[in-house]
Amino acid sequence: MVNTVIPLADLRYAAQAPRVPQHAAPPMGVLADRLGRPLRDLRISVTDRCNFRCSYCMPKEVFDSSYKFLPQSSLLSFEEITRAARIFVAHGVVKLRLTGGEPLLRKNVEALIGQLAALRTPSGEPLDITLTTNGSLLERKARALREAGLRRVTVSLDALDDAVFRRMNDVDFPVEQVLRGVDAALQAGLAPLKINMVVKRGTNDHEIVPLARHVRERWGKAVVLRFIEYMDVGATNGWRMDEVLPSREVVHRLSEAFPLEPLAASAPGETAERWRYRDGGGEVGVISSVTQAFCGDCNRARLSTEGKLFLCLFASRGHDLRALLRGTGPEGQPWTDAQVAAAIGLIWNEREDRYSALRGADQAEPGSGERRVEMHYIGG
Ligand code: GTP
Ligand code: 5AD
Ligand code: SF4
Ligand code: SF4
Repeated sequence: MVNTVIPLADLRYAAQAPRVPQHAAPPMGVLADRLGRPLRDLRISVTDRCNFRCSYCMPKEVFDSSYKFLPQSSLLSFEEITRAARIFVAHGVVKLRLTGGEPLLRKNVEALIGQLAALRTPSGEPLDITLTTNGSLLERKARALREAGLRRVTVSLDALDDAVFRRMNDVDFPVEQVLRGVDAALQAGLAPLKINMVVKRGTNDHEIVPLARHVRERWGKAVVLRFIEYMDVGATNGWRMDEVLPSREVVHRLSEAFPLEPLAASAPGETAERWRYRDGGGEVGVISSVTQAFCGDCNRARLSTEGKLFLCLFASRGHDLRALLRGTGPEGQPWTDAQVAAAIGLIWNEREDRYSALRGADQAEPGSGERRVEMHYIGG
């Protein structure tokens, strides 16, 4: 008897096979979910691997040398990703974000960016294409990314102090290399550039003001620094509420050093609340996923490295889009773009996820009890 070994990774998160409606109406770019929220932002994870081991995302004890990352055959190819993105754009998506893991670890990711940069919205506009990176490879890759068609980047940076930074990435990676990565990205014309700092009380909250000062002095208005509340995403980071520093406290500490004034939101469904230094020194933001949920107009969908569609960062179940992209219909014919689009339309129409809002209101989320998806697998 032959034993079939099913890679553990393929069973990692439950996923339903999408239903394809018999009559596939073409996408009109105006999808709405059950709460009336449109679909505008697609975040695509291109690898589940990372060269950092931030304890809030990929703690070393879990993601060690015995951890089984996804096998190459499970990953969506660049052609599959581009096809999926094209279909999402027909449904109204205008912003694409490549994430990981660390997206710059995906071999030749520039080629994927080139394919995505050629896409246009139904009215002929280019897309807002960006990428979230830990910055470790940015110095080397910034120029090629820009040349491939990337518009801007967001760099994760949790401390300015080298010892704190090394401890937080937990692989002893020096902060200087990331700072040089930001320099290189700006030189290459990747703008506006954002830096995201996840704040953990007692770990790096004393770095808020020093990092803000450094950003102001080194890059001025060219960089927007944003502070993120540490979230209870996934199931491995041992999250505790007492390690969350509420954004209002971040704003208070910042404004004592540099007076601030609020800015209006720049787009519906935005994650960050925006502030500006009164002295004209630029913009900062706070992302209050824990203390002030922003589910009300969440227009974001997430596509995992292996092609599962997740409707919320805190979901336990995905929808197996890869099964449609690779599979065939009842008569053995490949599914058409119109059929895949119609299946996605049905999924979005039924969406009612709003995890953070429910948790804030102390209500258990639907489907609780199942293991929640990890951030390194679907991206931030
Ligand atoms: P910009 O267009 O560059 O402003 O991007 P963005 O703010 O939409 O995305 P980014 O990936 O920079 O988000 C920053 C952080 O906000 C992420 O790393 C997450 O921690 C958090 N975040 C982003 N999207 C969501 C979301 O849909 N839900 C929750 N709860 N947190 C989110
Ligand atoms: N809480 C908040 N943000 C997180 N990220 C990852 N894990 C968490 C968490 N537990 C975000 C960070 C990082 C990006 C890749 O994902 O912003 O920069
Ligand atoms: Fe890697 Fe980003 Fe997760 Fe840190 S937060 S382990 S850099 S994917
Ligand atoms: Fe959107 Fe879910 Fe985040 Fe709420 S918790 S903003 S629904 S991804």
